[in-house]
Amino acid sequence: MPYTNLLITDADGIRTITINRPDQLNALNRDTIGELDKALSEADVDRSVRVLIITGSGPKAFVAGADIKEFAHFSVEEGRALSADGQKKLFDHVEYMSKPVIAAVNGFALGGGLELAMSCHVRIASDNARMGLPEVSLGVIPGYGGTQRLARLVGKGKAMEMILSAGMVDANDALQWGLVNRVVPQDQLLSTALELASRIMKNSPTALAAAIRAVNAGYEPGANGMQREVEEFGKCFGTADFKEGTSAFMEKRKTNFTGV
Ligand code: COA
Repeated sequence: MPYTNLLITDADGIRTITINRPDQLNALNRDTIGELDKALSEADVDRSVRVLIITGSGPKAFVAGADIKEFAHFSVEEGRALSADGQKKLFDHVEYMSKPVIAAVNGFALGGGLELAMSCHVRIASDNARMGLPEVSLGVIPGYGGTQRLARLVGKGKAMEMILSAGMVDANDALQWGLVNRVVPQDQLLSTALELASRIMKNSPTALAAAIRAVNAGYEPGANGMQREVEEFGKCFGTADFKEGTSAFMEKRKTNFTGV
């Protein structure tokens, strides 16, 4: 279906979703979050899609945050709803996708932009990327999971420093801190993301989904990640993909996973 604020392209099982409001540095307004929610749901059920890449349009920004102009006059209740709805529709939605999601961070990833990148399973940044959670400079705090996901990725001390200073880190610091997995020249960003997606795509879709669930379980309040791993591991033995993967190994041939 056509989207107003997104560009969707498919290539060999890899779906690239490009947030396309470059004149507003791809800021996340309500409509864009709604469209992303829809696009993620469509990708999740589309069996031809195996891996997703999320990126931003233009050379300057991945996403420069939630749309400040849209929420500037919100009340306390509206602010609360903005955070809760956004977390459900976009940020948790990305994190709990059954298919791997790679963020290709092509410039500024600020506020909701960094929160979106952190919701993705893997982050690749271009060398011009700048990342930060500047919300306290606007009199608000990160509301799309940033206070939790940043601390998980870089540790509480560095997360506190980034959030309290409202400062930006460059791509190399982000790499050193573990905020991104890789840094590449900007003109190689999408090709690197596609290459990684192709490598991931060779693996069993059912096992990829189970791995995402098991890793995520370790970060759920009150969840027992180890127990979830045992359950997910056991369930793999009932899949056709497991039979295919182990048979292909023993028959010394390439796998042909069907994702069931
Ligand atoms: N929300 C709404 N609009 C935004 C935006 C945001 N988060 N970030 C950028 N824009 C808009 C600007 O208002 C401007 O629109 P205009 O031309 O209609 O005035 C356009 O995008 C270009 O941004 P501009 O500020 O002119 O670019 P710049 O190169 O001078 O600065 C940034 C780039 C990223 C440093 C700056 O845009 C910025 O600080 N953005 C806000 C970042 C932020 O605080 N995000 C967290 C939000 S909770």
